[in-house]
Amino acid sequence: MTLKNPKFIASLTKAGPFPGDHLPKVVVAGKSNVGKSSLINCLCNHAGLARVSQTPGKTRLINLFDINGEFILCDLPGYGFAKVPEAERLSWGRMVESFLNGTRDIRLILHLLDIRHEPTREDIQMAAWLKHYDIPFLAVLTKADKLSRAQRQRSMPVIGRTVVVQPWEMIPFSSHDKLGRDELTAKLIEAVGTKEQKPQEI
Ligand code: GTP
Ligand code: MG
Repeated sequence: MTLKNPKFIASLTKAGPFPGDHLPKVVVAGKSNVGKSSLINCLCNHAGLARVSQTPGKTRLINLFDINGEFILCDLPGYGFAKVPEAERLSWGRMVESFLNGTRDIRLILHLLDIRHEPTREDIQMAAWLKHYDIPFLAVLTKADKLSRAQRQRSMPVIGRTVVVQPWEMIPFSSHDKLGRDELTAKLIEAVGTKEQKPQEI
């Protein structure tokens, strides 16, 4: 199951009007290089829709994608990229805060965390900050293809305890082998309240 008819709409630096801003929204957040853009491409089955890079800090703007005229996927710029100068870090915070405060009808926040590592201090702060908006929240544990099933089962409770999420709020995910794609797609569709989209496998 994948999302139909994805279309890049715009890159923003703050909240503001954009085509489709009346539609429900799903926000993708997480530290730099955790796999946000790859996840969007995977959910939409569209390589190259969101720019993926080996270099952390690639996505510096809020990129918006229209999904079949039904909802908007919002790719936030990653945090925690050590080489970013302090001034840019501050402007990142203002940009994300203004977007989360000024954008209506955000139905779901996906907080991406690397399944291989204990969450960083910034991941923990971000989780607390995102949860304070009181919007439905899921922790998506990325790059699950890099761990065996047994390793995943060991790391998930550690991540859950560290960012304070319940087992049912966590989804192991891999953009490379599509683990978790159907489950996550179903959660998005449920959150935005659209009709189920037809299966569309490669
Ligand atoms: P920024 O835009 O810099 O914040 O990064 P991002 O979170 O959008 O990450 P992006 O999708 O650009 O991926 C970063 C790197 O991780 C790329 O080299 C991807 O190929 C790799 N990657 C992303 N998802 C996965 C995954 O599920 N499995 C594996 N093995 N690698 C992945
Ligand atoms: Mg990105």
